[in-house]
Amino acid sequence: MIRTEIKSVLKEEGVRVGQNVFVSGWIQSIRKSKTFCFVVLNDGSCQNPLQIIVDDTLKEYESISKLLVGSCLGVEGELAASQGKGQSVELKALRVIIYGETNEDYPLQKKATSLEFLRENAHLRARTKLFSAIFRVRHHLAMATHKFFSDEGFYYLNSPILTAVDAEGAGEMFSVTKFDLKKAGELPKIKGSSSLDFSQDYFGKETSLCVTGQLEAECFALGMGKVYTFGPTFRAENSNTSRHLSEFWMIEPEAAFMDLEGNAALATKYVKYLIQYAFDHAHDELEAIQSYLKFSSKSSGETYEDNRKVLENVVQADFVQITYTQAIDILESTKKKFEFPVSWGAELQSEHERFLTEEHFKSPVIVTDYPKDCKAFYMKQNDDNETVRAMDVLVPGIGEIIGGSQREENLEKLQSRIKELGMNPEPLWWYLDLRKFGSAPHSGFGLGFERAIQYITGMKNIRDVIAFPRTPKNCDF
Ligand code: 4AD
Ligand code: MG
Repeated sequence: MIRTEIKSVLKEEGVRVGQNVFVSGWIQSIRKSKTFCFVVLNDGSCQNPLQIIVDDTLKEYESISKLLVGSCLGVEGELAASQGKGQSVELKALRVIIYGETNEDYPLQKKATSLEFLRENAHLRARTKLFSAIFRVRHHLAMATHKFFSDEGFYYLNSPILTAVDAEGAGEMFSVTKFDLKKAGELPKIKGSSSLDFSQDYFGKETSLCVTGQLEAECFALGMGKVYTFGPTFRAENSNTSRHLSEFWMIEPEAAFMDLEGNAALATKYVKYLIQYAFDHAHDELEAIQSYLKFSSKSSGETYEDNRKVLENVVQADFVQITYTQAIDILESTKKKFEFPVSWGAELQSEHERFLTEEHFKSPVIVTDYPKDCKAFYMKQNDDNETVRAMDVLVPGIGEIIGGSQREENLEKLQSRIKELGMNPEPLWWYLDLRKFGSAPHSGFGLGFERAIQYITGMKNIRDVIAFPRTPKNCDF
C-alpha cells in the first residue's frame, strides 16, 4: 500500500492502476445509490478531487453513507481506471477511517458560499475549491519571486519588522509598546509635559511596526550590491477599499548602481515573470478561478472578461512609460469627468490611474517623475527642483501595484529635504551615513504582493487573496 496525496494519484506519479493506495481528505460531495456511494474527496494538494467508490459490502458502509459534506476521511483502496467522465482514475475503497464528521451546522453548504460569507468564515476558506486555488497561486507567486530575484543576482534579506523610523513619512504606523495602556494614568510622562516618556519604554524610544523594509534594504544594497526583502508590512491608514490592507506583504528589491531606467526595466521583467510563472505552474487553478468569476458575474450582472487573455498580451507587450506631467496632460485633455480634480501637483487618484491603464492605454503604465510633495523624502531630486525620480507601475483593474524610485544619494540634498519636510533627522543618522561614506547611485521598488495576486487571479477584493485579512475594525482569526 502506498500512502500518498490526491495530486500524485491523479497524475499517476509513483502509483499505477491496480495498486493499493491510501489517501486522506475532506468530502466535497457524497452521493448514494442503491448498492454503493460515490464520495468525492479533496485533500487540497491540487485542484481536482478524487472519486471514491464505497460499496455496500464494506463493513463501514452504513456509517459512511450517512456522512455529510466536509467530513474528513482516510481511505485505502485499489486504484482503478475510471468509468466516468472527467477523471482518468478512481479509487475502489477497501477500508475507510472516519477522522472527523460534520453536522448540519457546517458553514460551507452549497447555498451559502458568497465571498463575503466566506470572509466571515476565513478559517474554513481553504476547504473550498476557489480559495485553495487562490492560495496555491499565491504560493507559486512567492516561489516565482525568490527564483526571479535569485536568478537576477539579488540576495534575500530579512529586514526588521519593529522599527523606530517612519520610513515613508506618512505617519501611518502602528505603535509598539510595553507600556500598559490600560493604566494610562500611571505611565511615565516627560517632565512638564503630557507626552509619554518613551525613554522608559521597552526599546527606550518610540517604536512601531514597519511600513517598509526599504531603508534597511538600502544599507545592504550599498554593501552587497543587490538585495530584496519579502515580508509583512503594516499601515494604519484608514482605507476601507478593495485594494488596501492594514497588514500586507511587500517585495522590495534594492540595487546599487541602478538608475530609474534600470529600475523600471527590472519591475517590468518581474511582473511579466510572475504572470508567466503562474501560467506555467498554476494552470488548473487559474482555470478554476476564472470559471468562478464567470459564474459569479452572471448573478451580479457585471461584464466578465477572461483575464488570462489580457495577461497573455501583457507578457508580450512593452509597458507604456510616461512622466507624471504627461499623465496630467492626458487627464486634462480627456472629456471624461473625474470625481477628484486633475491638476499638476495633486496626487493621482485611483480613478485617474484606472483611466490611464484601462481606457487610455489599455496596458500597464509606468508613471515617473512625480512632484516631490506627492512622494517620500528619500527620492532623488530632479534638477527642476520640483519633481523626483519616482516611478509607479499602474495596472488595469487595480491601479498602483508597484511604487519605487531612484534614491537621493547626495547627503546635502537629502538633509535639506528632510529639513524642508520638518522631519526629525536624528533617528535617520545611520541612513544618512550611507550618503556620508561611499555613497552610490541606487534604486529600488516595492511590489504589493496581494495586489499582484489580485491582478493575476482577477479577484476583485484584496481580502480574498490573503489568508486572514487585517483591515480597519477587523482582526479576527
Ligand atoms: O508605494 P509604497 O508605499 O512604496 C513603498 O513602501 C516603498 N518603500 C517601496 C520601495 O521603493 N522599496 O508601497 C509599495 C506597494 C504599493 O505600490 C502597493 O502595491 C502596496 O505596496 N501597498 C499596499 N498593498 C495593500 N494594502 C496597502 N495598504 C498598501 N499600501 C501599499
Ligand atoms: Mg505608492
